[in-house]
Order: sequence, then structure tokens, then C-alpha cells
Amino acid sequence: MERLPSRALFVVDRNVYESWPVLREYTQDKRVYLLDASESRKTLEETENLYEFLFKHQTVEPLVAIGGGITGDLTGYASATFKRGIPLILLPTTLLAMCDSTVGGKCGVNYKGVKNYIGTFKKPDEIFICTEFLTTLPERHLKSGMGEILKYGLIGKEPVLSLLEKEISLQNLQVRPYVEMGLKIKIDVVSRDFFDRDQRNVLNFGHNIAHGLEAVYPKALTHGEAVALGLLTELKLSEELFGLRSDIRTQTRSIMERFGMVTAVDDLPVEKLLDYIKKDKKNDDFLRFTLLSEVGCPEIKQSVAEERIRSALFVIME
Ligand SMILES: NC(=O)c1ccc[n+]([C@@H]2O[C@H](COP(=O)([O-])OP(=O)(O)OC[C@H]3O[C@@H](n4cnc5c(N)ncnc54)[C@H](O)[C@@H]3O)[C@@H](O)[C@H]2O)c1
Repeated sequence: MERLPSRALFVVDRNVYESWPVLREYTQDKRVYLLDASESRKTLEETENLYEFLFKHQTVEPLVAIGGGITGDLTGYASATFKRGIPLILLPTTLLAMCDSTVGGKCGVNYKGVKNYIGTFKKPDEIFICTEFLTTLPERHLKSGMGEILKYGLIGKEPVLSLLEKEISLQNLQVRPYVEMGLKIKIDVVSRDFFDRDQRNVLNFGHNIAHGLEAVYPKALTHGEAVALGLLTELKLSEELFGLRSDIRTQTRSIMERFGMVTAVDDLPVEKLLDYIKKDKKNDDFLRFTLLSEVGCPEIKQSVAEERIRSALFVIME
């Protein structure tokens, strides 16, 4: 904390603030905006509340976000747009944010229930990763972060899947090497296509289905849970369209089961889900997915027929 600028403004996830007395002590004489981090608050209205806070302080000083992906995405968006941009510092406190959302510069909010529909790109000026924050992270959100780590295991060349297979349980897992692997892959991809025009699509593996699932189960699934289910479904699509070996899906599912992650949903409203998938930003006249021809070989912008999606969804139905 001593490395943070003393005159910064802080946006802090309320749960993190309440879990860490040292943080409350550090910020007691500072300007702090407490955020109730939930998808339903990741909105333009909440951004406007944050603008009010910034306006009140007439600031061009750095904005420090302390929290998970929701806090980072919303604060990043406010910092990118307030006065056409003020400095941004990120301190991720969830596994997902540490290994993924903190890097890459994407920020934004949900709009009319559709994920991340309003947003922009903003590189943080500094990022500080302190895995100790994970000691207070609820287990459900630790599992949620594993969704993105599994994605990196599938799209990247790092041996993440075989390493995860040897882990006994989530409770005993040393997260640091996985955070480093995720960051390494993401930084490499983003450095080649920061504005997401082409290659960055590889990071979208699992996400078309995930974003649809989050829209149809807004309260019941976290982002990472939806990603994990999206991976299973899009692995199935990869088998159908690219002949990917089905044992990759078996291996992925068995890791998820060992970690107690969600692998299926009840009463999936398939048509409603498809309607949301059709709204995905990445589509043109066709539904565009990132699929895999091999582990470590993502195939971007693949057109997938609705009928194939309907039948692939069976792999996540209870
Ligand atoms: N910008 C990107 O590139 C990118 C990438 C992936 C995901 N995302 C976004 O990230 C969001 C999900 O973020 P997330 O999974 O990090 O979780 P989150 O921000 O939703 O936080 C999860 C929960 O954990 C609590 N929490 C956070 N850290 C804690 C801690 N250390 N101790 C106790 N409680 C803590 C929060 O209050 C919240 O209730 C989604 O909105 C998703 O769209 C963005």
C-alpha cells in the first residue's frame, strides 16, 4: 500500500473493505467510494454515481480500484471517460481479476442485461497483484476464477491442464503459478491485438455461451461459473466442427468436478439463451465463435449454426 500515491482516490469493493481492517485503516484519511460489486450494479447508473464522486473532488489524480473484475471494469470505464481520462491503478482481489481481467485494458458496463455492451479500452498505469487478498475470497469465487484459468489451459501452449490434473483440491492449490500462466498468455495475445480486431478473439473461447448464460441466469451464475460451462459447450462444438478429441472435454470436466465447480444447469431456457447469443458483439451476419482444433490452437471467427449450438448445449444440461 505504501507504493500507492497518497493523493489518489479509491474505489473499493465493499466486501473487501469490510474483510481487511488494514485497508480501512490505510484509507481512513483518504477519499473512498465503496462499491457494492454485483453484475446488477455494473451499470451506467452506478458509473454516474462514481462520476459524481469524482466531480465532487474535481480530480485528475489517479483512481485506484481495489476489488474484483466488476470493480476493475467499472472503475476503468469511469477513469477512461471522466475528463477524457484520468490515471488508473488496479489492485485485483479475486483470482479471476488477478489472472485475467486486470490486464488487457477492456473496461465497461452491462447494458439492458447484456454483458459489457458499453465500454472502451484503457490501459491501467500500474497493477499490483497481492495473492494474499485471496485468503478472504469466498470459495465460490475462487472456483469462478478457475473457469478463466481452465480457458488459458485450453487456448494456450502452457501445460495448465496436466498440472491441474495433479492438484488434489482447490483448498491446497498454490495459485501463483496459474496466475502467472494466465497473465503470460493474456499479455502475449493482447500485445498483438490490443483493440480486439482479430487475434484477441482467441480469449473469447467459452465466452459466447458464457455471456448468454449470464444473461439468462443473472443471479444464479457468476461470470467464471458461466465461463466453465461455456468451455464444456464450446469444446463440444470444437469436436463437431474441428474433430477435437472428446477426451479433452472429459479431462476438463473431471478437473472441474474435483474442484467442485458447476458443470451443469437445470431447466436451461435454450431459445432465450440463443436470443442473447445473437446479440453478442462479435457476431456479423453469422454467429461467430472461437473454437479449438487442438489444445493450444484456437480457431477464431468460426461461423456456427444455431442448430449445432442447440445440440451442443446438451453437455451442460442436468
Ligand atoms: N475486463 C476484462 O478483460 C474482463 C475479463 C474477465 C471478466 N471480466 C468481468 O469481471 C467480472 C467478474 O469479476 P470477478 O469474478 O473478479 O468478481 P467480482 O468483482 O464479481 O467479485 C466477486 C465477489 O467477491 C467479493 N470479493 C472480491 N474480492 C474479495 C476478497 N478478496 N475478499 C472477500 N470478498 C471479495 C466481491 O464483493 C463480490 O461479491 C464480470 O463482470 C466479468 O464480465 C472482465
